[in-house]
Amino acid sequence: MFTMRTAFRTLLVSIHVATVLAGPLLPRASEPDPSLAQSVTVGGRTFVNKGLVAFGLIPSNFRESTGDTMGGIGSAIAIQPGSFVAQPNGSYTGTLIVQPDRGFNVDGTVDYQGRHHQLDFVLNPHYDTSALEFTAAQQTLQLTYKVTTLYTERGGGTTTGLDATGVRDAQSGFPSDPLADPQMPIPKKEDNRLTLDLEGLVLNEDGTFWSSDEYGPYIYHFDASGALIQAIQPPDAIIPITDGDIDFESENDPDTGRAGNKGFEGLTIDKATSTLYAMLQTATIQDGGNKKSNSRYTRLLAYDVSSPTTVTPALKAEYIVPLPQDSDGKTLGSSEIAWVGGDIILALARDGSGHGDDNATSAYKGIDLVDFSSATNIAGSKFDSHKNAVAPKGKLDKSVTPATYTPFVSLIDTTNLARFGLHNGDPVDQTLIDAKWESIALVRVGDPSSPDDFFLFTASDNDFITTDGIMIGQPYNAGLDNDNQFLVWRVTLPGSTLP
Ligand SMILES: *[C@@H]1O[C@H](CO)[C@@H](O)[C@H](O)[C@H]1NC(C)=O
Ligand SMILES: *[C@@H]1O[C@H](CO)[C@@H](O)[C@H](O)[C@H]1NC(C)=O
Repeated sequence: MFTMRTAFRTLLVSIHVATVLAGPLLPRASEPDPSLAQSVTVGGRTFVNKGLVAFGLIPSNFRESTGDTMGGIGSAIAIQPGSFVAQPNGSYTGTLIVQPDRGFNVDGTVDYQGRHHQLDFVLNPHYDTSALEFTAAQQTLQLTYKVTTLYTERGGGTTTGLDATGVRDAQSGFPSDPLADPQMPIPKKEDNRLTLDLEGLVLNEDGTFWSSDEYGPYIYHFDASGALIQAIQPPDAIIPITDGDIDFESENDPDTGRAGNKGFEGLTIDKATSTLYAMLQTATIQDGGNKKSNSRYTRLLAYDVSSPTTVTPALKAEYIVPLPQDSDGKTLGSSEIAWVGGDIILALARDGSGHGDDNATSAYKGIDLVDFSSATNIAGSKFDSHKNAVAPKGKLDKSVTPATYTPFVSLIDTTNLARFGLHNGDPVDQTLIDAKWESIALVRVGDPSSPDDFFLFTASDNDFITTDGIMIGQPYNAGLDNDNQFLVWRVTLPGSTLP
């Protein structure tokens, strides 16, 4: 029988144990336990994955200020410049901007306006090897929703997420834009709206931001209020073309150009040189993109965005990145990139298994190192025409040297997941790691004893899957509760020139 007396004795024992363990005024660890570290060498430099240090979530049924279910927010994340602060009590505070893709579209695309949300966070890194309970683990990254910014077109019209079956002719400095499906049952006055399936996000110091999409695939520039000011159209080789015409829809693959629903998943910037990088999820159709066994040679593009008044920023460089493949030789598409320094970026490549998928067991989810220092720059070459594949049927042209790809941080590392009460594979429950990780944000730790250390944030795209959802006023039940999960890793990125 559990009496007050037993409880009191237990309490005394706990206090005693805590005193013995803590010792006389031992300072809190300021780094992950060294036994967790794993390193790789790229370009002569040693990059260290020091381990998972925090976990957080936004519940699957959480509603934002517009009334919609908050979901898909790991499609892109970015840390608000200047917001990250090391607090005297050992916590770190800051602001994340998170950008969903195109709403709950499991049963067809919906009329979802482009947007991003502000989440404030408190990061309390867990550095030792002990295993936290799932509830305690959620205290390591506490997330608080603040506000939503909705995206509009020039002139104030709202954007949508409906499949892009229409094309607006190029006009006043803008390229041909993807338009919403005119067949969809929507009010007439809202026809001919720009449609967006947003996947990448870069925040500028001046408050404007870049956002990359899957339909175009384009890179859009918005002002601080969310109004569109510029659009970058990629080379002809990437624009989706069917029967000689631009064809932005995502349901079917075009004849050439980006594959359906495999657009600019990755977007990042080198602020020192004003170079904006975008990467396709997998190869273009002419480069083998219609077959998973042939689609590994994807394209990384570098634009000069130093002059904000230039309507069409110059394509400075374009490289071929060889994506990893699974044991069956199927390409693992890339969902995000993040610039590190010099000729090195991080790329997130993964399978589709995990929470939210029929298969709970993931075999690969990596945030990896891409070194393009020795890669051939094909920008402006014949390969920028859809008529000249650079990797026909997945065989790379002999004249082209690709970037190198090196696995770095595995998001499904069972030792690290277990420290936060998480797991990979069955059982399917709230502690199963999500399937679709699609974002990266880096921020310098600011630790003088480890000056090259960064916190690496990543979040999942839960596809708005919840049993208690609402989208544009319509309640829905997706049959499963799939939270928006966040992970924070600590990594050493030597030679990084990130601010
Ligand atoms: C440390 O201080 C910050 C800022 O006041 C606060 O948000 C955070 O909760 C504190 N952390 C702990 C562990 O008390
Ligand atoms: C689930 O995915 C894993 C990893 O790719 C694979 O080994 C396994 O065969 C898959 N299971 C099923 C039932 O498809």
